Amino acid sequence: MVKSGVVFECNNCGAQYPKWQGQCGECGKWNTLEEQVVGASAGSSKKKVKEAELISVDKVSKKDLARVKSGIGELDRVLGGGMVKGEVVLMVGEPGIGKSTLLTQLSVEAGDVVYVCGEESPSQVAGRVARLGKKAKGGLKLMSEVDVDSIVSALSQNNPSLVIVDSLQTLNTADLSGVAGSVSQIKECTQRLIRYAKKNDTPVFLVGHVTKGGEIAGPKILEHMVDAVLDLSGDRYHDLRLLRTVKNRFGATDEVGVFRMSGTGMEEVSNPSEIFLEERDETGAGSAVAVIMEGTRPVLVEIQALVVNSELPVPRRVAEGVSVRRTQLIIGVLQKHAGLRLSNSDVFVKVTGGVDVKEPAVDLAVSMAIVSSYYGKALAKNSVCVGEVGLLGEIRSVSWYDKRVKEASKLGYREIYSRDKYRKIADLVKRVKK
Ligand code: TYD
Ligand code: MG
Repeated sequence: MVKSGVVFECNNCGAQYPKWQGQCGECGKWNTLEEQVVGASAGSSKKKVKEAELISVDKVSKKDLARVKSGIGELDRVLGGGMVKGEVVLMVGEPGIGKSTLLTQLSVEAGDVVYVCGEESPSQVAGRVARLGKKAKGGLKLMSEVDVDSIVSALSQNNPSLVIVDSLQTLNTADLSGVAGSVSQIKECTQRLIRYAKKNDTPVFLVGHVTKGGEIAGPKILEHMVDAVLDLSGDRYHDLRLLRTVKNRFGATDEVGVFRMSGTGMEEVSNPSEIFLEERDETGAGSAVAVIMEGTRPVLVEIQALVVNSELPVPRRVAEGVSVRRTQLIIGVLQKHAGLRLSNSDVFVKVTGGVDVKEPAVDLAVSMAIVSSYYGKALAKNSVCVGEVGLLGEIRSVSWYDKRVKEASKLGYREIYSRDKYRKIADLVKRVKK
């Protein structure tokens, strides 16, 4: 164990060495040793130990958790109602997805912000601000710097109310020799920024990259260090962007913020159902509407199905947005309990808008879309399906039922297909066939 200075730590097993070597002697992995700084006093027994302070829980000020609105409703939603003082938020996402755009918007909305642009030049950021067509409300300052110690020292001088660092991968500290973007540099720089945030009660947003595999570039430990991790994702072919909470010490982790990338920044979408149902042809056979829960918010999505004669000895079951397994299971139930003959048909199922649905509450909509395509009959125009389908052909109730129904009726869907009215899938199929 090395006491101070620089050590080389294996990022697989944590073994430490005074010098770099190609292979870790402990776990045998190659190229896993990373340089780390160890504090000069670490492990020193001569230093006088300061006794830790005890604080009675009811003496702790609850004000510390007071939320500051960011000015962007959808961002506040995923943060759990706004930013918390001293909170460190890591925003990750693929290149070009809109991280810088969203954070530039945030810096324009919030007052007194420092935007550290390591990735772009100040003129690029200024250009983006101009493109948003808004004037910075509270004096936005740019800092073109990558040395984390210079950054922290300048921030301590200026005391902004919010700091944005774009991106972590460009930062470095002279205390380590590794290049910017290496695991040890990212870890150390993040640690220093977290220390600044906590000491000054300033919220700090960090931009992080994701690797090809979709993991956050840098050590996994990064996720543990920060207070919240937000993942901005979207479909390359649509302009929809979803901001999900992967981790949040100050709120729920299943919230989703919805945006639309426009020519002037990210527009908030406060009613995503409208987008998902925008181009729906409600008179077509093979379309059903489901109500899914995105966090605490019910969202209506369209499920489409296509049943056609198969030319293959083993007919195809293709599903996009719901699992193939679940689709096969539903097909089985429809064959056994609702009299559909699907053994010579290809069945294709799709959730429109590129949404991925995992909850069982979508079962009934998938079933009814298949039934509708099979009989060539459109479902009632104002109908939605809310229910799980059991292997015995029964329609089952789902969580958040009232919330889902309320959202559906708000959008004009009055006919609710659910366990309340139909106990068996066969009863509902009979009705559609008529
Ligand atoms: P950007 O925020 O730079 O992505 P990231 O920081 O995640 O890499 O966004 C880049 C894309 O967004 C780029 O293709 C241009 C586009 N864009 C718009 O469509 N509208 C806008 O108002 C802005 C600023 C960017
Ligand atoms: Mg960027």
